[in-house]
Amino acid sequence: MKKSEAHKADSQPHSLLTLDFNNLMAGAVGGAGLEAADLAAIRDILTPAVKNVLTRYEKGQLPFMNLPFQPDEVRKYQALADNLKKFDHLVVLGIGGSALGTRAVFNALKPLGPNSPAGGKRAHPRLLIADNIDPESFLALLEGLDIRKTAFNVISKSGATAETMSQFLIVYERLRHDLGKTALKDHLIITTDPEGGVLRKIVDSQGLMSLPVPPGVGGRFSIMTAVGLAPLAVAGINIAEFLAGAGACQKEQTSEVMANKAFLFAGLNWFLTTRKKRSSLVMMPYADSLSQVSDWFGQLWNESLGKGHLLSGREAATGQTAIKAVGATDQHSQLQLYMEGPKDKTICFLRAENFRQNLPIPRLFEEYPELAYLGGHSLGELLNYEQRGTARALAESGRPNLTLSMPQISPASLGYLMQMLEVATVVSGALYKIDPLDQPGVELGKKYTYGLMGRDGFDDFKKNYDRTFRDDPEYVL
Ligand code: PA5
Repeated sequence: MKKSEAHKADSQPHSLLTLDFNNLMAGAVGGAGLEAADLAAIRDILTPAVKNVLTRYEKGQLPFMNLPFQPDEVRKYQALADNLKKFDHLVVLGIGGSALGTRAVFNALKPLGPNSPAGGKRAHPRLLIADNIDPESFLALLEGLDIRKTAFNVISKSGATAETMSQFLIVYERLRHDLGKTALKDHLIITTDPEGGVLRKIVDSQGLMSLPVPPGVGGRFSIMTAVGLAPLAVAGINIAEFLAGAGACQKEQTSEVMANKAFLFAGLNWFLTTRKKRSSLVMMPYADSLSQVSDWFGQLWNESLGKGHLLSGREAATGQTAIKAVGATDQHSQLQLYMEGPKDKTICFLRAENFRQNLPIPRLFEEYPELAYLGGHSLGELLNYEQRGTARALAESGRPNLTLSMPQISPASLGYLMQMLEVATVVSGALYKIDPLDQPGVELGKKYTYGLMGRDGFDDFKKNYDRTFRDDPEYVL
């Protein structure tokens, strides 16, 4: 298939997202780029991989792909949002997939301006997300809250994550001490597995408010479940439009593999990684509000694709390292390396054609050519021209890059983008022949932590830690 054909489907005028990969092609970047034969090879390998994913979807093994189509859930979370309007703050306690998606969407879509006051009163509780256990920052967060006017959404699918559970215990104790046991039912919302886990047992025994994480949906694929939708609805985000955008992406999936953005994104990056030694993918939004999308994508891509074994059991070391950068800021810190350093990266730009608010640059000091060219433009124009200029410069230096572009940052375009990247992730899993839904590599460190913290059943890890611990002063300065 010709490149121009692949482009057609991606350049519909009303598309919520376009994917432009001109700067991956050899015509733009030279030897590092792709030839028509490479696109044909990608198509050949992508076709069975997509078939595999769609078969698993049809068998109900990839339930995240159905999440955009759930109007009842939207009504449920909107009702919850109405109930929680009495609070000043909603604090999410969660980590990894229980926090990153919510933060990405909230930062991209939160009402512009200082807390969006309506008639002098805040229209929605302010959303705060505590995804670390640094005692200094967690204490500072708690001390800045009026606990009588704060609700806490504890989010843990397993109900066993040490970080979230420690936060839960601290908050539970504070609420009970400051407001009394009866307040717990009002101030705590627990999002966890509908059946298993200790958190579910606590919900049942204490009669706490709870929301389910649907079975089969892992943390990093859970933004369109209660994990993301409930706090986002409480914060005033239009979750119906967000899901509608995701649904628009999901409905595109029966088309020709190279004309589907999710499949193509997976195929291109897999080829660049495995055949062109581009082992890293820099996700570089040109909008501050999209900067957290890079963090969410980083977890999705790295935790899903970085695997030590193939499905066959054979040892491997798969994946492509996702790196965060933000334009234009990181043009002045990281770009030099991307232009002239190791030739191991692909850059993925993420941009909006139009900004929701813009600022004209005044015509001043026009006698100085160094400043005269700025006046009469806007900051949004400057930022977008910087993105175009950087993409061109990278291409000229033989550095492959592609651009994801939204007409404007909106709930629908963000929903589309996130669903597209989630689907691309499972298709990539099929290309690498690994399981993109597990994360065995993070378990060992957890077990050592349990051992060191004295958890029953993990003594061997403590013993092994003590036995193998090295404190040779020669290597400590
Ligand atoms: O994507 C994942 O599965 C992980 O990042 C989890 O979201 C993270 O470890 C938190 O797990 P849990 O929701 O069980 O507390």
